[in-house]
Amino acid sequence: SPGRTLALRGRVLSFTGDPAEIGERAVVFHSDGVVLIRDGLIERVGNAQPIIDSLPPDIPVTNHHPHLILPGFIDSHVHLPQTQVIGSYGAELMEWLQKYTFPEEARYLSPRIASDASRWLLDTLAANGTTSASVFCTSHPVSVDAFMGEADRRGLRMIAGKVMMDRGAPEALLDTPERGYQETKAAIERWHGKGRLEIAITPRFAPTSTEAQLAMACELAREYPDLPIQTHLSENHAEIAYVAALFPKDTDYTAIYERYGLLRKRALFGHCIHLTERERCALAAHGASAIFCPTSNLFLGSGLFDRDAVRAAQVRIGIATDIGGGTSYSMLRTMAEGYKVLALKGQKLPAFEAFHMASAGNAEAMGIGEAIGRLAPGLEADVIALDSRSSAPLARRMERVETLEEELFALMTLGDERATVATYSGGRLIYDRNAPRADRSG
Ligand code: GUN
Ligand code: ZN
Repeated sequence: SPGRTLALRGRVLSFTGDPAEIGERAVVFHSDGVVLIRDGLIERVGNAQPIIDSLPPDIPVTNHHPHLILPGFIDSHVHLPQTQVIGSYGAELMEWLQKYTFPEEARYLSPRIASDASRWLLDTLAANGTTSASVFCTSHPVSVDAFMGEADRRGLRMIAGKVMMDRGAPEALLDTPERGYQETKAAIERWHGKGRLEIAITPRFAPTSTEAQLAMACELAREYPDLPIQTHLSENHAEIAYVAALFPKDTDYTAIYERYGLLRKRALFGHCIHLTERERCALAAHGASAIFCPTSNLFLGSGLFDRDAVRAAQVRIGIATDIGGGTSYSMLRTMAEGYKVLALKGQKLPAFEAFHMASAGNAEAMGIGEAIGRLAPGLEADVIALDSRSSAPLARRMERVETLEEELFALMTLGDERATVATYSGGRLIYDRNAPRADRSG
């Protein structure tokens, strides 16, 4: 029916491949384009006039000119229970976890706290143009139920996991090898495949899982070979030294996860800052992904991601906020900090590669590249409209911009959530910059 069909008109930008690999051939841009959506899926993408001429006259056309229309941003690593940890002062990773993060996560035993946080996080992601994410809940199953329930009500494509952790944290956060297994299994049975939801097997990281628990994560990975996996790897020097002491027989940090069958496609390893060449090769050999979390890495002083080395080893790379080690919900801010991290490494992050990484690149890493991340027929209609003149500094800079690439680079360098004009998930408007605040609940 026409009510289920919607045409979005504007300056349409998407990627058919990775610009880091195939260059500008990867970039598809229609300066006056349309994304035609039917029943939540993208039906056509192309130049506006021929598409509009072919439509029945009663199909609504939303004109987003002069704004850009892009695939929704994807955040490949974010922590639900850390929206009130963000901006905690003065600690590196291991102290930050003990002092701020673990006590806060203990509160997520409460269904009300978990569902309030879920609503707040999903509202905030939508306002930032982020339509999909890979989410760490807490060790409490109720935190997964709260988040997935809210994501399902909104019809979002989300990956989330019950954190498995059985040592190295306050009692209130610890499960056991058996409970970590059972509770993950229950979450899979309850949520995996419901709507657009998927459960990720989520051992927090090696320091908070015993060998017995990692063996259980291994068993889950074996039983569910297609599930995403998410954890942390090689973020901070003190963490790496601690891991070496806990696992003296393993060659390196990556070897622990490898030994437990956790390196594979759809396995997302947050940070991967201080990897050796052997570790990069191991990740690549198994098709696992490294997730670059620039605002977090700078804020916690963790170190500088070596994108060129990771790419040279042919490891897939995603980019993420890592809220609340990270300091912004905006993928634009995240790209900007990514550019600066790489500048300190003597490396480059061209705008096309950054925008690709935050959409199709993350979707590929998460193993959902056939569902989202691009504007192409058959994909789910997770789409955003972005205003590249959303602040005075951006508007002024744009007066001197001549190419799309310059525009995108200025947008990622200066932009933030104010650039989000509209966010659509499955073809449904879930955020509208011009709507009064009360009207935009999910
Ligand atoms: N390593 C283990 N847990 C965490 C976390 O919550 N945040 C970050 N940044 N690193 C971690
Ligand atoms: Zn994290």
